[in-house]
Formats: sequence, structure tokens, C-alpha cells
Amino acid sequence: MKKVADILPGLLSNNSKVLRRSEIRELLKLTRQPGVISLAGGLPFPGLFPLEELKDIVATVLDREGGQALQYGPTEGDPRLIEWLVQWMRNQEGAEIDQNYILICSGAQQALDLIGRVFIDPEDPIIVGLPTYLGAIQAFMGYRANLIGVPVDKQGMDVDRVEKILKEFAKKGHKVKFIYIVPDFQNPAGVTLSLERRKRLLDLCYTYDTVTVEDSPYRDLRYEGDALPMVGPMDKRGYAFSLHTFSKIFAPGPRLGWIVANPAIMDKLVMAKQPADLCTSSFAQAILFEYLNRGLLKPHITKSIDYYRKKQQAMLEALDRYMPKDAGIDWTHPEGGLFLWMCLPEHIDTDALFPKAVEKKVAYVMGSAFHFDRSGRNTLRLNFSYPSEEQIDEGIKRLADLFKKEL
Ligand SMILES: Cc1ncc(COP(=O)(O)O)c(C=O)c1O
Repeated sequence: MKKVADILPGLLSNNSKVLRRSEIRELLKLTRQPGVISLAGGLPFPGLFPLEELKDIVATVLDREGGQALQYGPTEGDPRLIEWLVQWMRNQEGAEIDQNYILICSGAQQALDLIGRVFIDPEDPIIVGLPTYLGAIQAFMGYRANLIGVPVDKQGMDVDRVEKILKEFAKKGHKVKFIYIVPDFQNPAGVTLSLERRKRLLDLCYTYDTVTVEDSPYRDLRYEGDALPMVGPMDKRGYAFSLHTFSKIFAPGPRLGWIVANPAIMDKLVMAKQPADLCTSSFAQAILFEYLNRGLLKPHITKSIDYYRKKQQAMLEALDRYMPKDAGIDWTHPEGGLFLWMCLPEHIDTDALFPKAVEKKVAYVMGSAFHFDRSGRNTLRLNFSYPSEEQIDEGIKRLADLFKKEL
């Protein structure tokens, strides 16, 4: 008798055949073993979640507007939240937008999926960083994009290489559908795209008729230096869309993010969202709006920055203290965000080393997970937001011991 697994290959779509699991989600299972210090995940610190404020806010929202908060809502999002975001984007980023530019979505991750759905046909070229955010790789590969990798250095994505690629494709009569960037304290490498490169990227979009997708979940978590302008607001022609999220500055559980895009594309994004989920959680939006309306976000961001800055400092100090010197080991010193990135000598393979690290009770994410072509085997990502300062110190010590043996 056949089982469903026998007939599935003949039934599944081609799109489903290219889906791949997130290495990080798989790794996180291993790192839950007792005693393992995980520097692998990317979770905000739960102690920062505003539980006390939310208890009161949830009760207020239910009393005041429970029927509406638990009802379906507009696909575009709660109009009050949209209006609040228009003001926020104008004040914080100098964005010249109105409510027609905003779509509330279930985290920036859904925005990535919607962008993929609206722009990518199978084999369409799109440009991503080497490395780049794994969730974006997954989203775009799910639509069978032809990912074209561009190296990321300490100034962010190598824009000369972007130009070369755009030129080559234009010569062949093909269009690169979009360039995906994480310009501020990139996940995973922690680097920030320089102002000069931001401007050039936009010019390249104008020259080669393509668009930039700017994904900036960490932008408000800056621990030093001055913010650079977002690419979106620098662009007056609608060629840059930006993705934002409350996951890192409020909490990821409510799954709330937003897209800022020119109204010319909004209609398509809204139509793509309707079959995905009809609307983003009305309840979560109503709660968030009340939180924002009480003026609680800015002080919360300030508190988060103070907290994460200390943790980042603890990790940088531990690296200085324990890592072998003059051994070809290098790491980034990001001005914000949740991650550091390490480069080891070429012969060290962080994929192969991972089981040994778990044996030593410490975990990281191997750099190859962020390279869609599986390169970057001598790199790794370290998270400092979730572990305690003591765990950071001990975790880095264990890693340094491991590297010393390998060198
Ligand atoms: C670069 C980047 N984009 C998008 C996301 C997804 O965020 P959200 O929780 O808003 O879906 C993340 C999450 O870590 C991220 O690092």
C-alpha cells in the first residue's frame, strides 16, 4: 500500500523542491543541550520586553475596543498605526511620505516574502551580499531566484562589483530585479554601508533601471557613531523600498513590521499579502499602537541601547583577552546591532569545527549559512544580545581554546 510520501514527489511544486531549512533553526536545537553557551541565535534579550506596561495596555485595549481588536482588519494595517509610522519615518528619517507608502506586515520576514512574490520569476537575477541575512536567502530562493553574490567588506557591499554585474546583465539584455542590502550593522557581519556607497547604489539603480530593497531591523540600536541616512529617504524617485520591524526594538513575538514603498508598488504588495494572511494581527497592532501612543518606545530604545552596548563591550573585551594574537583571526567592531563577525585563517573550516565547539559547550553560527553559495567556510557569527555577560566571557574563552588547538 502506498503512503503519501511515495506520491508526494509527483505532486509537489518546483518551488517547494528548492525550499531549504534555516541552518540556524536547526543549530539552535543542538545548542539547547544542557551547559551549552549559545552565541548562535539572534534573539533580543527577553528581560527587556516591557511586560508590566503591556499587562495594563492589553487590559485597556480589550476594555476599550476589544470587539475591533479581535476582529479582522484592513490588509494595509491599522490606520492609527500607519499614521503613527508616517510621523515616525518623517521625524526619524526625513522620509517624505504619507499613509499610502506604508504596509504593516507580520515582521520584516513577511516583507521579504512579499517582495519575492511580487518581483521574482524563476531564474530572475537578484543581487545579495556575501554574506547576507539567511532569512532573505530562504525567501528569495523559495521563488527560485538566481542569486548573484557580491562580497561585503568593512564598508558594506562592494558597489564596484554591483556595477560590474549590472553592466554584464544589461549587455545580455537581462534585468537584475533588485539589490538586497542590510545597510546598518548588517546581519550577519555587523558592518555598515558607507554613505558614498549608499549614494552610488542609488545612482546605479537609476542607471540600470533596478531597485534597492533596504532591510534595516537594527538601525535604531546604535551604540556609537552617527547614523547615516537611509537609502529610502535619500531616493526621491521611488527606487528604494525599505523594510522595518518592531522585533528588535519592542519584541518579536507580536510579529510586527512595515514596508515603506512608493504607492506605485503598494497595490501589488497588498494583493500579495491578502492570500498570505488577509491581515496582520489586529490585536497585536492595537496593543502596539497603545504602547506607542503612550510614548513608551523612545525610552525603551534608549534602555535597550544601554543594555546591548554593555554586552557588546563585554564580547569585544573577551575577544581581546582570550583570542590568540597574530594568528590571522579578525573580528568586526560594529557600531550597533546584535552581532559580531569573525574571520579565521583560510584553513579553518567552521562547519567542520561546529561539533567540536558543541562538545566544548559553546555554539556559534558558521559563516557558510549566510553565503548562499556555501562559501565563507572560515567565518562565523557571534551574538551578544541573548547570553549574559558571564556567559559571553566564558563562551569566548571556550571558543579561543578551541581555535588555539586548531591553529
Ligand atoms: C536582516 C533581517 N531582516 C529581517 C529579519 C526578520 O525580522 P522580523 O522579526 O521582523 O521578521 C531579521 C531577523 O533577524 C533580520 O536580521
